[in-house]
Amino acid sequence: MQKQKISFELTVFDSFEALSASDQELMTAAVTARENAYAPYSKFQVGAAVLMNNGAVVIGSNQENASYPSGLCAERVAVFQAGALYPGEKMKVVAITAASKNYTVDRAAAPCGNCRQSISEYEVKQGSPIRLLLMGEVGRVLQCDSIADLLPLAFNGTFLE
Ligand code: THU
Repeated sequence: MQKQKISFELTVFDSFEALSASDQELMTAAVTARENAYAPYSKFQVGAAVLMNNGAVVIGSNQENASYPSGLCAERVAVFQAGALYPGEKMKVVAITAASKNYTVDRAAAPCGNCRQSISEYEVKQGSPIRLLLMGEVGRVLQCDSIADLLPLAFNGTFLE
């Protein structure tokens, strides 16, 4: 019997202003997407912006539905659209930001389990890491170097060969 420890390195930026100019630009696209989210039920608005290898930025926001499970998270709207628009292109960075109509979100919102799985699919497909930037409305910004960090022991297509 042996025990293994799985850990990862998180980069913490004190604020949006501490990001590089190009990461600020991507996060700003996510903020704009967030402001256009359709979240009349939860009042929790999420925006995501995917930077592709060719420089294109693909955005998504959460799209809710009166039949709650029919809605979709911002991250999946964004990466599915990126996959549809640029099937041969790698995803480099996904910036994610969350806000609420009920309170000020002052901490980074990390993607839900289903979104981690969906982003992981593209990371495995392309064979290179997808960096994540996570932010609330204000406060610190967290960076993960790979979605694999947030989804250890992930299930993927290699099991289906
Ligand atoms: N939501 C996202 O868009 N991304 C996440 O990773 C977590 C949750 C959305 C789904 C729903 O519209 C609202 O936030 C509340 O769960």
